[in-house]
Amino acid sequence: MAKLKIKFVCTECGTESPKWMGKCPGCGSWNTMTEEAETPVKAQVPRSGLLRVKEKAKSIIDIESEREARVTTGLAELNRVLGGGLVPGSLLLVGGDPGIGKSTLLLQTSHALTKQGLKVLYVSGEESVRQTKLRADRLGALSSSLFVLCETNLDLIDEAIGEVRPDFLVIDSIQTVYRPDVASAPGSVAQVRECTAQFMRIAKGNGIATVLVGHVTKEGAIAGPRLLEHMVDCVLYFEGERHHSYRLLRAVKNRFGSTNEIGIFDMTENGLREVANPSELFLSERPLGVSGSTVVASMEGTRPVLVELQALVAPTHFPSPRRMSSGLDHHRMSLVIAVLEKRMGMFFQNQDAYVNVAGGVRLDEPAADLAAAVSLASSFKDLPTRPYDVVFGEVGLTGEVRAVSRAEQRVKEAMKLGFKRVILPELSVKGWQPPAGIELIAVRTVAEALKAALE
Ligand code: TYD
Ligand code: MG
Repeated sequence: MAKLKIKFVCTECGTESPKWMGKCPGCGSWNTMTEEAETPVKAQVPRSGLLRVKEKAKSIIDIESEREARVTTGLAELNRVLGGGLVPGSLLLVGGDPGIGKSTLLLQTSHALTKQGLKVLYVSGEESVRQTKLRADRLGALSSSLFVLCETNLDLIDEAIGEVRPDFLVIDSIQTVYRPDVASAPGSVAQVRECTAQFMRIAKGNGIATVLVGHVTKEGAIAGPRLLEHMVDCVLYFEGERHHSYRLLRAVKNRFGSTNEIGIFDMTENGLREVANPSELFLSERPLGVSGSTVVASMEGTRPVLVELQALVAPTHFPSPRRMSSGLDHHRMSLVIAVLEKRMGMFFQNQDAYVNVAGGVRLDEPAADLAAAVSLASSFKDLPTRPYDVVFGEVGLTGEVRAVSRAEQRVKEAMKLGFKRVILPELSVKGWQPPAGIELIAVRTVAEALKAALE
């Protein structure tokens, strides 16, 4: 028998090397080379299932453009993140912390799809068939065209796919599946890469929309080679805080749509419930008439969402004051503080400053700047903000307030939720008709905004 050779593989880019190296020669990352047993090259055995699909080159004119024939999943929030629905033959990767609800989400999606007359195969390598059934009972997701398989051998999974011929396939999770002809252990770089490549062939060759569930590492990236994310069509992350019941579904890569959209769910006793009106949820715990709290109208993809941005400014006990922000970019927070110091004469050097966006939302739009400025100034001066104000606008280095996109949609969302005033950049008020019933305060500088908000 041939001796098993050891090689080292980079988890970032898949570069192989016969000896260990601290720095990957391929992509230059540090400490990413992991040990693996060399894969003995075997003759390709003909398979019984669907792996051997022969494709011929076709003229582009003759190719049927079924691309846009999307299958809506029955979960509106998921459709939104996918850019309209599932594309047949696409390969999706869903990542997230353990216990966040990935299996629950996919089981519910499977059930919703069977209701539309589609056939679904749910392959679980982590839970037994009975456990999956128990969960389905709890979710009310029982259907005769939902098939469940507890298997990790890819050849056998392939056979089952050939028998069931599903329209939608779930592999929970890709780290548990292995190819018997690849010598390394399940979850290793080689296995994950090879198995994903196989699933891609199955998905593309047969028009089966396939979802792979991926574990995440401690750093929050999907475990396995980085090129896994390049191979698939969409990469979705399911996130949330363990202590809160709502969950955000976010696309970080999407070949068929935008990556700005988020889907919002609430984890209940009976599974995930879609949240149709996120603003209401994010504002539900907001204290009224206190200092340091502002509501910002932010765009999450095409949807305006109102969230509370809190700030606390307190005397420091450290030689250099603390700056902590969660949900808002650290650099933007520093910029806003610098503008308040220099242009508004507020002395922050002996003050700790904390900024928090309620509900675990991440505001990566510059439109949140002005709200951060109002919250910080309100806490600094200990002046309460008005409870029925919404604030948005980008802050420039000279203290000017810059225009942001989609002002109209933001204002309408504020109106829908019963807010009375909106403080916004003057230049954003052009080109659309402000709705009646809500007062718009157009400002040019941070000073004007603070005057309007705090006096
Ligand atoms: P799960 O889908 O197993 O997470 P993952 O596959 O991402 O590891 O979700 C497990 C958690 O969800 C568990 O802590 C219990 C909770 N849960 C509910 O609160 N309600 C439910 O109806 C279900 C099925 C799970
Ligand atoms: Mg799971």
